Amino acid sequence: MMIPACPLADLPRGEAFRLETDPPVTVFHTDDGELFAIDDTCTHQDASLADGWVEGCWVECPLHASKFNLKTGEVDAPPAKLPVRTHEVVVQDGMIYVQLSTAAPNLPHCVTARLAGALA
Ligand code: FES
Repeated sequence: MMIPACPLADLPRGEAFRLETDPPVTVFHTDDGELFAIDDTCTHQDASLADGWVEGCWVECPLHASKFNLKTGEVDAPPAKLPVRTHEVVVQDGMIYVQLSTAAPNLPHCVTARLAGALA
Protein backbone atom coordinates (compact mmCIF):
# COMPACT_ATOMS: atom_id res chain seq x y z
CA MET A 1 0.00 0.00 0.00
CA MET A 2 1.33 3.44 -0.98
CA ILE A 3 0.80 6.04 1.77
CA PRO A 4 1.28 9.80 1.27
CA ALA A 5 3.64 11.22 3.92
CA CYS A 6 4.32 14.92 3.42
CA PRO A 7 5.64 17.34 0.79
CA LEU A 8 9.41 16.98 0.34
CA ALA A 9 9.69 20.75 0.88
CA ASP A 10 8.28 20.30 4.41
CA LEU A 11 10.94 17.77 5.43
CA PRO A 12 14.36 19.47 5.58
CA ARG A 13 17.55 17.43 5.74
CA GLY A 14 18.17 16.11 9.23
CA GLU A 15 14.45 15.92 10.01
CA ALA A 16 12.06 13.03 10.47
CA PHE A 17 8.33 12.70 9.74
CA ARG A 18 6.24 10.14 11.60
CA LEU A 19 3.23 8.58 9.88
CA GLU A 20 0.49 7.50 12.25
CA THR A 21 0.05 4.16 10.54
CA ASP A 22 -0.40 1.04 12.63
CA PRO A 23 2.36 0.41 13.52
CA PRO A 24 3.77 3.90 12.90
CA VAL A 25 6.41 4.48 10.23
CA THR A 26 8.97 7.29 10.12
CA VAL A 27 10.54 8.91 7.06
CA PHE A 28 14.05 10.24 7.63
CA HIS A 29 15.70 12.86 5.41
CA THR A 30 19.42 12.49 6.03
CA ASP A 31 22.03 15.24 5.95
CA ASP A 32 23.20 13.70 2.66
CA GLY A 33 19.75 14.25 1.15
CA GLU A 34 18.65 10.62 1.12
CA LEU A 35 15.15 9.52 2.16
CA PHE A 36 14.48 6.34 4.12
CA ALA A 37 11.42 4.91 5.83
CA ILE A 38 11.50 2.40 8.68
CA ASP A 39 9.12 1.26 11.39
CA ASP A 40 9.09 3.98 14.03
CA THR A 41 9.01 1.69 17.06
CA CYS A 42 12.31 0.37 18.40
CA THR A 43 12.42 -3.44 18.47
CA HIS A 44 13.59 -3.42 22.11
CA GLN A 45 10.92 -1.38 23.88
CA ASP A 46 8.26 1.21 23.08
CA ALA A 47 10.45 4.10 21.91
CA SER A 48 9.88 6.31 18.88
CA LEU A 49 12.87 6.32 16.55
CA ALA A 50 11.59 9.63 15.14
CA ASP A 51 12.86 11.07 18.44
CA GLY A 52 16.29 9.49 17.94
CA TRP A 53 19.52 10.92 16.60
CA VAL A 54 20.48 10.44 12.96
CA GLU A 55 24.11 10.14 11.96
CA GLY A 56 24.88 9.14 8.39
CA CYS A 57 22.40 6.39 7.57
CA TRP A 58 21.93 5.25 11.18
CA VAL A 59 19.37 6.33 13.78
CA GLU A 60 20.10 5.93 17.47
CA CYS A 61 17.22 4.92 19.71
CA PRO A 62 16.52 7.70 22.25
CA LEU A 63 15.97 5.21 25.08
CA HIS A 64 18.93 2.79 25.21
CA ALA A 65 21.07 3.82 22.24
CA SER A 66 20.87 0.80 19.94
CA LYS A 67 21.34 2.06 16.39
CA PHE A 68 19.35 1.00 13.34
CA ASN A 69 20.55 1.20 9.76
CA LEU A 70 18.08 3.28 7.78
CA LYS A 71 18.87 1.41 4.54
CA THR A 72 18.69 -2.18 5.79
CA GLY A 73 16.97 -1.98 9.18
CA GLU A 74 19.82 -3.91 10.84
CA VAL A 75 20.67 -3.15 14.47
CA ASP A 76 24.26 -2.50 15.54
CA ALA A 77 24.29 -3.68 19.15
CA PRO A 78 22.04 -4.67 22.10
CA PRO A 79 19.82 -4.12 23.93
CA ALA A 80 17.78 -4.24 20.69
CA LYS A 81 18.39 -7.54 18.89
CA LEU A 82 15.97 -7.56 15.95
CA PRO A 83 16.03 -5.32 12.87
CA VAL A 84 13.29 -2.82 12.08
CA ARG A 85 11.34 -3.17 8.84
CA THR A 86 12.32 -0.90 6.01
CA HIS A 87 9.86 0.58 3.53
CA GLU A 88 10.32 1.94 0.04
CA VAL A 89 10.18 5.73 -0.36
CA VAL A 90 8.95 7.32 -3.59
CA VAL A 91 8.86 11.04 -4.41
CA GLN A 92 6.27 12.06 -7.01
CA ASP A 93 5.47 15.65 -7.92
CA GLY A 94 7.20 16.90 -4.78
CA MET A 95 5.27 14.58 -2.48
CA ILE A 96 6.85 11.81 -0.39
CA TYR A 97 5.06 8.47 -0.48
CA VAL A 98 5.86 5.32 1.49
CA GLN A 99 5.30 1.88 0.01
CA LEU A 100 4.59 -0.17 3.12
CA SER A 101 6.44 -3.44 3.49
CA THR A 102 4.34 -6.58 3.61
CA ALA A 103 6.84 -8.27 5.96
CA ALA A 104 5.83 -8.81 9.58
CA PRO A 105 7.07 -6.03 11.89
CA ASN A 106 9.48 -6.79 14.75
CA LEU A 107 7.56 -4.97 17.45
CA PRO A 108 8.59 -5.21 21.12
CA HIS A 109 6.40 -7.51 23.24
CA CYS A 110 4.79 -4.63 25.16
CA VAL A 111 3.55 -3.05 21.92
CA THR A 112 2.37 -6.36 20.44
CA ALA A 113 0.41 -7.04 23.63
CA ARG A 114 -1.11 -3.55 23.57
CA LEU A 115 -2.19 -3.92 19.93
CA ALA A 116 -3.64 -7.36 20.67
CA GLY A 117 -5.56 -5.86 23.60
CA ALA A 118 -6.87 -3.07 21.40
CA LEU A 119 -8.20 -5.61 18.94
CA ALA A 120 -9.88 -7.77 21.59
S1 FES B 1 14.00 1.03 23.57
FE1 FES B 1 15.36 1.20 21.89
S2 FES B 1 17.20 0.30 22.60
FE2 FES B 1 15.81 0.09 24.28
